[in-house]
Amino acid sequence: MYVLAAVTNTNVKKGINAYRKGLAMNVKDLLSLKDKVVLITGGEGRYGRCILEGLLEADATAITASPFVDDAKKVAAAFKEKGYDVHVKYVDQADHESVLKLKDEIEKDFSGLDVFVNNAVARPMKGYDASMDQFAESMRINATGMVDITREMAELIAKRGGGSIVNICSMMGMFGPDLSNYEGTDLGTPSPDYFFHKGGMFTLTRYLARVLGDKKIRVNSVSPGGLLAPEIQPERFLQNYTKKVPVGRMALPDDIKGVVVFLASQASAYVDGENILMDGGMHC
Ligand SMILES: NC(=O)c1ccc[n+]([C@@H]2O[C@H](COP(=O)([O-])OP(=O)(O)OC[C@H]3O[C@@H](n4cnc5c(N)ncnc54)[C@H](O)[C@@H]3O)[C@@H](O)[C@H]2O)c1
Repeated sequence: MYVLAAVTNTNVKKGINAYRKGLAMNVKDLLSLKDKVVLITGGEGRYGRCILEGLLEADATAITASPFVDDAKKVAAAFKEKGYDVHVKYVDQADHESVLKLKDEIEKDFSGLDVFVNNAVARPMKGYDASMDQFAESMRINATGMVDITREMAELIAKRGGGSIVNICSMMGMFGPDLSNYEGTDLGTPSPDYFFHKGGMFTLTRYLARVLGDKKIRVNSVSPGGLLAPEIQPERFLQNYTKKVPVGRMALPDDIKGVVVFLASQASAYVDGENILMDGGMHC
């Protein structure tokens, strides 16, 4: 009691009061994104579509934004048929004016933003020996553009009183490439830009968790392993890769849904600046 009487900080008092009353929320409510406005970039892409589905299944109002609006509209139409609240917007995250326009539209149409899932990626660089122009183009979108859209969306989330940012990194932002995965295939050596900007996003997550803390924005990341895509992954690559994974397979569409919903929701209210490696145990 002596210690409690000395406490003056409002947040600390709130925490202690909640503790005294017992846990206030059911775990299903903690994981729910009902009444939350969530933006995902590239929600029509491979992992993007899976994440978008998870957000909608958790009852979010979800906006997917990218330069490929026609593709996004097709994906959104299938979700709308299931009764989900999904919206499509244009953005090229490498173009500051386009980012500002998206921000403006979200504020007008949805009165703000609660969660930003930073998922988009462009892959203009092809292999170790590709030109530095391709490296620069990658940085324009995946580094400069990514930081720009994150700062602008963080401002929207802050205006709303706080929320969550989930960065979709990659195990390739944490570890060097396992070149033996590509043996016996014509996939070549992975491009350096990807390791560079994914590693940057991994560190940026911790930076932003500190810098945006006073705005009540939590920032976390997920670093997935490869998503199964047999149409572009040769059989030999799949054999090379899966034998190193304790779970015994590549990632499937459902694998990322719960991880992102967890980080987006109140269920992770005390998780901040963290990275979840989602690689089926490949690096354990
Ligand atoms: N696919 C994998 O195996 C894998 C593995 C680990 C991590 N990841 C990560 O998951 C995320 C999604 O990857 P994916 O494989 O689904 O990629 P994808 O190429 O299928 O989709 C990427 C999306 O980014 C969007 N995009 C591209 N340029 C953009 C721009 N200038 N502005 C806004 N949006 C733009 C596109 O609309 C596209 O839908 C990425 O961050 C990627 O690094 C993917």
